[in-house]
Amino acid sequence: MLLDYDDDGPGPVVVLLHGFPLDRTIWASQAKTIGSMYRVIAPDLRGQGRTAAPVGIYPIDDMADDVVELLDALKITEPIVLGGLSMGGYVALSIAVRHPKRLRALMLIGTRADADPPDAARVREELAGRVEAAGDVGPVVDAMLPRFFNESARERHASVVAALGERMRTASPRGVAGALRGMGSRPDRSADLARITIPTLVMVGADDAITPPAVARTLAEALPNAVYAEIPEAGHLAPLENPAAANAAILQFLQSLA
Ligand code: MLT
Repeated sequence: MLLDYDDDGPGPVVVLLHGFPLDRTIWASQAKTIGSMYRVIAPDLRGQGRTAAPVGIYPIDDMADDVVELLDALKITEPIVLGGLSMGGYVALSIAVRHPKRLRALMLIGTRADADPPDAARVREELAGRVEAAGDVGPVVDAMLPRFFNESARERHASVVAALGERMRTASPRGVAGALRGMGSRPDRSADLARITIPTLVMVGADDAITPPAVARTLAEALPNAVYAEIPEAGHLAPLENPAAANAAILQFLQSLA
């Protein structure tokens, strides 16, 4: 399905995939900073943001194929740099494994390669059912927002957190349920990591409660050609919470590819 997207800037293509239950607007700072040197394309994934929300489950591989379809629609045939935050990272890993020729480098931010344990998948299914029944994404926002930012960050960035919460509340219940079920049934990619030999940046917020630094370090160690960057004063959404440090790490990585 065709995704809604932003596409701006000159130079080599960098595609950025947002997390859940978010949309492409989380990349505003990166689009501005990196976009002066690179063509930054930030889509809304299936069912999220301004992209249509079909009925049913959104398997991560289908979300990945949507991104490849967008590249085809834009006639981008050269290998790109692909970045993904959390759920966007699951999608990016699917592309790295299933469409390796489309990529020249990867950026995996606050994400992991393994699948949901059965308990976590059950919680997602239960949450998806509640969202559908109520036609309201409130339960997901209430569950996720406190896990994105630790307590001191919630105080320090109160207006950013409030604005993000408002935006999350506009998400489509059908899209949120579809993505929850897709994440709950995603494949374990751990065994595929050794085959991903392109340069990869693994980035994580030092205070990430969802994918803690230990998870990111394990991911970086399993990838043959990875560099690891830990962003201080940031939780799960490092590019949003500490854009200066995240952008510096991203730019350094992109420039190392030249
Ligand atoms: C995200 O930020 O995309 C989510 O935390 C991913 C997840 O729930 O597994």
